[in-house]
Amino acid sequence: MSALADRVIQCCREIARMSEEPGRTTRTFLSPPMREVHKLLAAWMRNLGMRVRVDAAGNLRGLHGNSTAPRLIIGSHLDTVPEAGAFDGVLGVVLGLALIEANPTISIEVIGFSEEEGVRFVKPFLGSRAFVGDTEWRTSEIDSALRDFGLDPAELPEVRFVKETVGYLEFHIEQGPVLENLNLPLGIVEAIAGQSRFVLYFEGRANHAGTTPMSLRTDALVAASRWICEVDRYARARPGLVATVGSVQVSPNATNVIPGRVRASLDVRHADDNARRGAVRDLLVTDHELVLDQNAVKMDRALTAELAAAAPNARRMTSGAGHDAMIVAPHIPSAMLFLRSPGGISHHPDEFVLSEDVDAALEAGAAFLKRMESKYV
Ligand code: HGY
Ligand code: MN
Ligand code: MN
Repeated sequence: MSALADRVIQCCREIARMSEEPGRTTRTFLSPPMREVHKLLAAWMRNLGMRVRVDAAGNLRGLHGNSTAPRLIIGSHLDTVPEAGAFDGVLGVVLGLALIEANPTISIEVIGFSEEEGVRFVKPFLGSRAFVGDTEWRTSEIDSALRDFGLDPAELPEVRFVKETVGYLEFHIEQGPVLENLNLPLGIVEAIAGQSRFVLYFEGRANHAGTTPMSLRTDALVAASRWICEVDRYARARPGLVATVGSVQVSPNATNVIPGRVRASLDVRHADDNARRGAVRDLLVTDHELVLDQNAVKMDRALTAELAAAAPNARRMTSGAGHDAMIVAPHIPSAMLFLRSPGGISHHPDEFVLSEDVDAALEAGAAFLKRMESKYV
């Protein structure tokens, strides 16, 4: 299979060049380069004889086989974080298409979800949420972005999965160091850690940087900085907890003005929902808005057993990163296969995968499809 593995990697690298920013990969929800990605993958899908559409949430969908037969979904996301690597999300979609090359007898819908990272409108998982019938994320701003992309928000209810759907499989890079340290190519996800995301506001008083004595200032950025250090100290002291302030906006953001206002993000994760909720209670010190409150999610036991039989040497593990599978799993039996991330690097341009690991994933995927065929065809 290694020629196919190399093709998968080349395709991901080609897609990485479809970006909003020259020289780096940034591709947000419904951005112009997303159209280029759709064009490239739709051409591959049509070549494979798949029926192709972009649904009202901007998800690219290709159906292989009969539309009324039991259907397996293979999916992941096509959007990226700013300055991303080439494989987070995209690899799972491209691997799905590579598996269709062998013309499996089971019906398979390959989905490239439009939005998972939450970069453009802060809220994540918009594509997969629409796929499970959740459109509570709609705002007038998002609706107009959908229309600008040529989509009709009134058709969002039609995005929902069909009743023939029997399972969801997601391939994804691990985005961490566990498999590399074990010298293993593949992992099987048993559960995905819960996550909470917030925006916090620190209010101070903007004033002249030269004339306001230090004792008479209310500097919003100094307050936010102290809190950021406390977030880091707090999470380091609690095993299994991770907490990140990844985005800060200062206003008015000028050298000679004392910062009057800071807007900061907070991302808190733990495999144990109670531990996560406790941390959130302790860390929310000021005015805030909730962006995401997502409990930990278990993958389906039976489907995971099928995947484990198809990949007997894969390590069972928990995912600290969020994935579309965590949105899909409460509605459709779901399983996830991780590929080793060399160096444990992700959300970074240096992210990569080894050709032999892609090969191993293709082999496991093909064996998994055979097992599904013996059950459903
Ligand atoms: O943030 C996450 O866990 C994922 O990469 N979207
Ligand atoms: Mn990501
Ligand atoms: Mn991802």
